[in-house]
Amino acid sequence: MPKVISIHSYRGGTGKSNFTANLAATVAALGHRVGVIDTDVPSPGIHNLFCLEPEQMGITLNNYLWGESPIQDAAYDISANIGLDESGRLFLVPSSVKADDIARILKDGYDVKLMNDGFRSLVKGLELEYLFIDTHPGLSKETFLSIAISHVLVLILRPDKQDYQGTAVTMDVARQLNVRKMLLTINKAHSKLNLEALKQKVEATYGETVAGVFPLSEDIVQLASEGVFCVKYPEHPVSQEFRNVAQQIL
Ligand SMILES: Nc1ncnc2c1ncn2[C@@H]1O[C@H](COP(=O)(O)OP(=O)(O)O)[C@@H](O)[C@H]1O
Ligand SMILES: [Mg+2]
Repeated sequence: MPKVISIHSYRGGTGKSNFTANLAATVAALGHRVGVIDTDVPSPGIHNLFCLEPEQMGITLNNYLWGESPIQDAAYDISANIGLDESGRLFLVPSSVKADDIARILKDGYDVKLMNDGFRSLVKGLELEYLFIDTHPGLSKETFLSIAISHVLVLILRPDKQDYQGTAVTMDVARQLNVRKMLLTINKAHSKLNLEALKQKVEATYGETVAGVFPLSEDIVQLASEGVFCVKYPEHPVSQEFRNVAQQIL
């Protein structure tokens, strides 16, 4: 059965798009058919990590949500961009980065049910084994939908009081929605922190497993969203940590 994985955080800049791209690329490299959908319509960005330029995007998720085209027409095969061999495949459904398109979707909104139907037909039409949903931060009706339909919710937090409080709220919501599997991950842990002690503290506080702890990495900053970290630096400890988290999703 196909698996849907939502990557979420209460606050922005936490690492959702990075996690989504790295986890999706890792799973695809294991020989799976993987889809990624950028549901962060107010501030899309994951296409940068996959080196898909706005000029190369014709139809986007926006066109699907406006009833202008089937969702499959907004899916771009970006397997070559992340150096996949024959076995795995990766498709990206980007959101439009055109100012007019963003303004229109923010002003008029869209039918959340249509988004849900889109997930289904994407999985079916592209014969996906895994669908990763990159999300907008915070709680909204879109978040509720993606949490409710996901088999796995990856919740990212930074060691920061604002994140701690927001994550507790999000976890409450996720439990009320009967989320099937929740994986907490910690990102941007600074070098003075003891990562193992941090992991244990977060697990004790929230009563959920921490699937991975990622340091604040100068190498990620340097890559500056121009590519997928795991693909560029497969031997790096950060890439190994992504592989660990991916195993818990599979
Ligand atoms: N562990 C990390 N160390 C350093 N920089 C990171 C790390 N994770 C993500 N970043 C950077 O932080 C910024 C925000 O990440 P992004 O994945 O776009 O967050 P979100 O999608 O949650 O808004 C990006 O510039 C990204 O390269
Ligand atoms: Mg993002």
